[in-house]
Amino acid sequence: MEGVREMAGAIGSRARPAIMGIEPYVPGKPIEEVQREFGLRDVVKLASNENPLGPSPKVQEVLVRAAANLHRYPDGGAVRLRQALAAFHGVPENAVLVGNGSDELIKLIAESFVEPGDEVIVPTPSFSEYWFATQVMAGTTVAVPLGEGFQYDPERMLQAVTPRTKLMYLCTPNNPTGTYIPADALAEMVRRAPDHMLLVLDEAYHDYVEAEDYGEGLPFVKDGAKVIVLRTFSKLYALAALRVGYAVADPEIIDLVNRVREPFNVNALAQAAAVAALEDGEHRRNSFEMNRTGKRQLYTGLETLGCRCVPSQANFILVQTPYPSTRVFEQLLRRGVIVRDGAAFGLPDHLRISVGTREENARLLDALADVFRTLGGAGSRD
Ligand SMILES: Cc1ncc(COP(=O)(O)O)c(C=O)c1O
Repeated sequence: MEGVREMAGAIGSRARPAIMGIEPYVPGKPIEEVQREFGLRDVVKLASNENPLGPSPKVQEVLVRAAANLHRYPDGGAVRLRQALAAFHGVPENAVLVGNGSDELIKLIAESFVEPGDEVIVPTPSFSEYWFATQVMAGTTVAVPLGEGFQYDPERMLQAVTPRTKLMYLCTPNNPTGTYIPADALAEMVRRAPDHMLLVLDEAYHDYVEAEDYGEGLPFVKDGAKVIVLRTFSKLYALAALRVGYAVADPEIIDLVNRVREPFNVNALAQAAAVAALEDGEHRRNSFEMNRTGKRQLYTGLETLGCRCVPSQANFILVQTPYPSTRVFEQLLRRGVIVRDGAAFGLPDHLRISVGTREENARLLDALADVFRTLGGAGSRD
């Protein structure tokens, strides 16, 4: 036993120091685990910003057909999917790169550009993958807090730029806040970003945006700016399990990132499903509409319960609760509702709640009312 421990220590000292500060990713609790732990049958998950409508029926049809060819390697160039995306966005095919989720693309971008000691500017709170990918490459994450009401502070982000800055991430709408960068502020940031860095616009939740002044990145890509736009099929397109994301950027940038991509990074089922999903405009509209009405149902219900909601352009709402978030989170679990504890983002009095179906949202609101009664009750021991 002692010998084994010594060996692990010796090997540990041979690992790259940069990875020692990384804790393995802890995903949210799966439905099955909550069912087992609390002896519940009916569990609702509003924790991972998924599309409660499920995938398009057209996707399910193509998957059956694609399954007959599972003995073949996928198309390593994802030609059909890249052609479909290029046509959809009006960009050349060599401006599009697909990844095993946009998670993979975030890592590939770091592998392509970040050297030890290089700086990557990220908003905070925001999506943890930016920090993770930077850390893997022994880069330095420069976290710039969001401003009042979790709104972006473009000036503060630009002030963080140094000669060592390689990348600046802008997550818009931002996870976990749902806030966004207006078009005029984005234009200003693109104009003032120096030549030695790239702006990466993570637009995972772009498809849910209702705000008319929202700024999107594609026009800047088309204009030749040093901007990478990331999108995903995991949210509105409801293909989270299949893992497909994509980057759109100047072909020269795409060529660089493509060098570090694994040959068959996006599997054949995922490629076929993404093409079919892209063609199903009706499913997209239904998903958008379900989110729009669900969000209003949640705003009204949550505010009635005394919670403060951060206005969101995404498919989730960041909610300030009158009790510590971890206690509320745990109490909701016991009632069969899984949300995301804000403590994970450094916000111990907030929850991030994904928008579900009408029934799921109602279930959350009922459970939350009950939790507040319990936590507010005199002599409560919860
Ligand atoms: C802001 C943001 N970017 C990227 C992703 C990852 O998406 P994908 O499923 O495409 O890896 C997520 C997932 O939740 C996200 O919130």
